[in-house]
Order: sequence, then structure tokens, then C-alpha cells
Amino acid sequence: MEIIHDVKTLRWYIKQIKLKERTIGFVPTMGALHDGHLRLVQKSILQNDITVSSIFVNPSQFNNRNDFKNYPRETESDISKLEMINCGAVFVPSSDDMYGEQDALNFDFGYLEEIMEGKFRPGHFKGVGLIVAKLFNLVKPDRAYFGKKDLQQIAVIRKLTAELLFDVEIVPVNTVREKDGLAMSSRNKLLSKEDRVHAGALYMALNKAREKLIGGENVNSVKKYVTSLFNADSKIKLEYFEVVQTSNLRNILNIDKNMDVSLCIAGYLGNVRLIDNISLN
Ligand code: PAJ
Repeated sequence: MEIIHDVKTLRWYIKQIKLKERTIGFVPTMGALHDGHLRLVQKSILQNDITVSSIFVNPSQFNNRNDFKNYPRETESDISKLEMINCGAVFVPSSDDMYGEQDALNFDFGYLEEIMEGKFRPGHFKGVGLIVAKLFNLVKPDRAYFGKKDLQQIAVIRKLTAELLFDVEIVPVNTVREKDGLAMSSRNKLLSKEDRVHAGALYMALNKAREKLIGGENVNSVKKYVTSLFNADSKIKLEYFEVVQTSNLRNILNIDKNMDVSLCIAGYLGNVRLIDNISLN
């Protein structure tokens, strides 16, 4: 596996691949890799000649300094994991490589920044958009892989790709979960042993809500039910629970059988923020 630390070398590497007319699959990450990340890489390896991954804890997408500071960093073991599954190359840039003195460019994703993750993490998607645009420009992938765990991020990336005319296919990948249903996440490593026991409750709540909606209960009453699960005694402090149309993330009040619907949730367990979503259909 090629381990590339700077932009110049990456550009040269990508040029060689393009000269040979080989397809490139790209998996951007912030590291602390788990089986969810590796599933993306494996899918890319199956569908492309060369798979490039990146590891970069992107400062511009953190709206909270402590979250950025505490984000797990495990670059050496990450590189071994990627090597073990035969990833073609990994790009591990420094902040100076990715950002100049200042970044004046300011993406506006409109409605997508007003709801759920956009609403509770102001500026987050501007940072995601900026770094993914830079990485797409460097890697020039034919396909790029993103986890459905971050459903709203996929919508943002789709908008970015469409508006900036990136010639890349966005491939969504199903969420990989722990045995108790907890969606794998680098942030799970920050949970205390005691809190980890309670973390499965988010996925359980999503499934109970799904059952109720399928049983014909209306959206508002299911929302009240989920809020009641995370009452003052609960270890998890609920931030939001939303029922949305998967394609545009618009809120839904009445469920139509032909609609693709997603249930999205976010909450704090201690000071660790967890998100998850499932599809109704
Ligand atoms: P990160 O959180 O490291 O996630 C990298 C990719 O892995 C994302 O596409 C994410 O949705 C996917 N992923 C995370 N957990 C997953 C799981 N349990 N199952 C399946 N896929 C999972 O998302 C980011 O980094 C950043 O915002 C990034 C796109 C790299 C831009 O900085």
C-alpha cells in the first residue's frame, strides 16, 4: 500500500493511475478506523481498479474545539488495518497541506444546514463540503463511498457533486453495527465502560418507532413516544428525533406507503454525541 503524506506526491500518484486508464474508488475518513470504515474500503476494492483512502481529522467541520481535540487519532493502527485489507493507497495530509492561511470559500447548503445535524452543529457541513471538494479535486475518483450512518452528509455530498459538476458516482453503504445494534463510530471509543452499556438504546428507540409507524401510529405521537423514552432519568440526552423523506430530508407528518422514509436520531451520552438512522421501508 502506498502511504502518501503530501499533495505533490498524491498528484503524481493519481496521474500515473489515470495514464493507465484505471478506475479510482475513494474512501475519505477521519481515521480511528472500525469495521464500518473498512466495509466502505472493501466495497470500493470490489468495484474499482485502485482504492484510495484518506485519513484527516478535518478542523473546519468541528464546531466545538474540545470535540476536535478529543477526537481519537490512531494513524499507525489505521494504516495497518488498511494494509491488511489490501487498500491501494492512503493519503494522510497535514493541516497545512489542506488549508492555506485562511479559507475564504464558504459553501452554503441551504435547507440541509437548517435541519438535524446542520441545525445542531452550525458550520459543520460547510467544513465537510470544503474538505471533500478539495479531496475530490486531488484524488479525481470515479466512485466515492459514504456511509448511510451519516445520511445527511450523503445529501450534502450529492449536492456538492451536482453543483460543482464533479464527475464522480456517490455510492452509499449500509451502516455496520455492534452486536447490540449500536452503529459503529470512531466516537464510540470515547464512551466510558458504563455509558457503553446504555448506547444501544438509540438503535432500540429507532426500531420501536419504526414498529409503531408501520403499525399505523401517527408521526407526532411516535415523536412524543421517543421523547418520553429519553426522559430526565435516561442516560442519553436526546437532541432530536425526526421522521424525514430519505431523498430530500424534508419532515413528514403523514406517511405515504410509496415514500422512502428515514428515522433519524441524535443524542448525548455523557459528553459523547451519537447519531443514527434507519429506513422505514
Ligand atoms: P468519518 O466519521 O471518519 O467517516 C468516514 C466514512 O465512514 C463516512 O462516509 C461515514 O459515513 C462512514 N461510516 C462511519 N461509521 C460507519 C458505520 N458504522 N457503517 C458504515 N459506514 C460508516 O464522515 C467523515 O469521517 C467526514 O465527515 C469526512 C467525510 C471524511 C470528511 O471529513
